[in-house]
Amino acid sequence: MSIIATAAGPSSLENLERRLAVYVTRECRRVAGWLAPESAAVIARLAVAQADWKIAGGAGEIGIHHGKLFLLLFFALRAGERAFALDIFEDQQLNRDASGDGDRAVFLGHLRRLGGDPERVSIFAQDSTSVTAATLLAATGPLRLMSVDGGHTQEVTRNDLQLGEAMLLPEGLLILDDLYQERWPAVAAGTFAFMSDPANRLRPFAISPNKTYFCKDPGHAARYRDLLAADFADLVLGRASVFGSEVLILGRRTLSNRIRNHRLVRANPDLYRRLSRLRHFWR
Ligand SMILES: C[S@@+](CC[C@H](N)C(=O)[O-])C[C@H]1O[C@@H](n2cnc3c(N)ncnc32)[C@H](O)[C@@H]1O
Repeated sequence: MSIIATAAGPSSLENLERRLAVYVTRECRRVAGWLAPESAAVIARLAVAQADWKIAGGAGEIGIHHGKLFLLLFFALRAGERAFALDIFEDQQLNRDASGDGDRAVFLGHLRRLGGDPERVSIFAQDSTSVTAATLLAATGPLRLMSVDGGHTQEVTRNDLQLGEAMLLPEGLLILDDLYQERWPAVAAGTFAFMSDPANRLRPFAISPNKTYFCKDPGHAARYRDLLAADFADLVLGRASVFGSEVLILGRRTLSNRIRNHRLVRANPDLYRRLSRLRHFWR
């Protein structure tokens, strides 16, 4: 079904919310890839907030696979905005750590099936370490949304974060995959190397399943964080200070987390402690 056809015009806030809701709740699961439903909902909410706050700019992803997350970024575009999609696609011999398996035909098939206009996407079929920020910027202009989910080695992660830093608007969002995943420790190593560069202005402000969110402007980071804390109160696990920034931690929609965040339990912390003793029954 065409997602674009579900909304009469692509520029109003209501239509944007409807398109993203259709993708997140129905179509996303039909595209193979890696995107937890909680994170899809968080990204859609942040994209709608950007529209509401009149933040305009391009979108893009490094590491497409079949487009599961890219399509969410794409359907968040408003009139006049463009996206880039970068993946080694058929050159899988360049996939140094075998993270994912990009397939351009499957990706474009999903884009067309959902009513997306391929003319609004600039495709870069190449290793991300061989592209410059200037080349990508020429395709989209400065970005408000960018996902880094390509090669999961230390070198590639650092490179891709540097590209994001150079392309992102101060109030834009960078979404990094697998920073806290034990399967991909080099992502953490590459991120720490990147964060230690004094020229870097990106700071984390939130975490949701397998995704970490960064923004350059501290005022917008706080605004995004407050919005998520209010709209996803049932998923909040806590907060942490990371690289000198306050980070909101959102978990999965498990029964345990829902009980922890129930208003009756929040009003009575001792109740959660007592319920926790029974947790093997609700896991
Ligand atoms: C984990 S998958 C991406 C998942 C995708 N974002 C999703 O929403 O399902 C990683 C992708 O990065 C691509 N890739 C791996 N190394 C790369 C590199 N050095 N440059 C560009 N793409 C790369 C792979 O082909 C694969 O499609």
